[in-house]
Amino acid sequence: MTSRRSALARLGAVAGTLGLSGCARVLGSASDGVDTGLPPNPHADSLPARQYVQGPYLPTDAAGNDLQPRYRRVLLLRLDVDPSVEAARTVERAMRTVEAAFDWRGDGLFHLLAWGTDYFERIGELGRAPISKPRVVSRTDDPALLSFDAVLVLESDVPSHLSAVENAMFGAATTLQGQPVDHPLGDVLSVAERRTGFLGEGLPAKHADVEGIPAGALSADDPTFMGFFSDRQGTQASEDRVAIDGGRFDGGTTLHVAHLTQDLDTWWEGLDDAGRVARMFSPEFDPAEIADFGANVPFTDAVREHAREFDVVGHHEKVAQVRREGEPLLLRRDFNTTDGGHAGVHFLSLQRTLDHFRRTRRAMNGWYVRDDSEAITDRENNGILNFVDVQSRANFYVPPRDERAFPLL
Ligand code: HEM
Repeated sequence: MTSRRSALARLGAVAGTLGLSGCARVLGSASDGVDTGLPPNPHADSLPARQYVQGPYLPTDAAGNDLQPRYRRVLLLRLDVDPSVEAARTVERAMRTVEAAFDWRGDGLFHLLAWGTDYFERIGELGRAPISKPRVVSRTDDPALLSFDAVLVLESDVPSHLSAVENAMFGAATTLQGQPVDHPLGDVLSVAERRTGFLGEGLPAKHADVEGIPAGALSADDPTFMGFFSDRQGTQASEDRVAIDGGRFDGGTTLHVAHLTQDLDTWWEGLDDAGRVARMFSPEFDPAEIADFGANVPFTDAVREHAREFDVVGHHEKVAQVRREGEPLLLRRDFNTTDGGHAGVHFLSLQRTLDHFRRTRRAMNGWYVRDDSEAITDRENNGILNFVDVQSRANFYVPPRDERAFPLL
């Protein structure tokens, strides 16, 4: 029987003979991406080589924190054709069309195309891929463990840009920003599921008429449904920190996508400011101190002592325990959602390895404090765990821009 791999290798040889292979890259090569035979990306010089890099292009607040784009769309994709050089060419052309249409900035568009566990399984390479299928990592949840071929993440301060791209790539539109779309992603991929959401002052209050949020709970300037800003610079891994460093996947990273629903009646009506601050950050803080945090959140690394003294521990102090040399392991790109008519968070995080995500999640579970306080259970008085339920998880590999079409093929 001919293996898929050798069949693809033959296809590569044919592509080469037909003059499609303009450089030394060989289909199936262990050291590089698939050769699409296309000329070099004309936008490459004005775009970061790593698809997920946004930092240098984002505005900052007065404290120096990056202000992430306010609107998000996550298109979870299914491959409709067999992986091939031709399909890779279509994908690369489609992504170049998107790049030509918008500047790489908040009021333009950030996008990344990542590849999921279904894709790597399909090409027989899941064992070699830098990702694995998602697992259950908490005792409080029974999430759907999802697997997709790919995901397209779109982020912008201009909500219509997200719709324009989705329509041009997967819908009826034949142009994008006035330019023809000759090779839409929809020729090879289709949308299996979509997630939408938003982040930033004003937006949660505008979308608060959903299950999970008591009426009138949010004030106009709350940046998230739980009321706190959540992306201070010092609480984020740097874009370098999450990059895979060296080897076949150099410059790529891993992406975890989880959907959490939130039930915030007790959060807003059963707790006061001190109760919310204790659970989100740490019981050692006075609520008035939060506004002074600036570009970092202080923590004393005393979770077990706090459990004994206060019978409650904070989300931030728990997850901050896994920092390495003072730096968190995760670069969080999570946002609020009302998908399904219920308040929630799409928790997207980038990390060098998925183990960094699991390690951080174990720290968040807080099982280690149960001996220190009977009041702390898997959910109660244990950070924000009493207010969130994980509905689903999925994992992806984010290749560098020049290898974004069919990695490992
Ligand atoms: C509804 C869900 C969640 C909310 C509302 C939330 C909120 C927050 C907030 C407000 C902070 C403080 C950051 C700051 O002030 O800049 C924080 C930090 C953090 N969260 Fe979450 N979070 C959620 C879920 C998660 C999950 C699922 C994880 C991963 C397992 C996670 C990992 C982290 C990490 C790593 C930090 C930074 C820790 C550090 O500074 O070292 N969070 N979160």
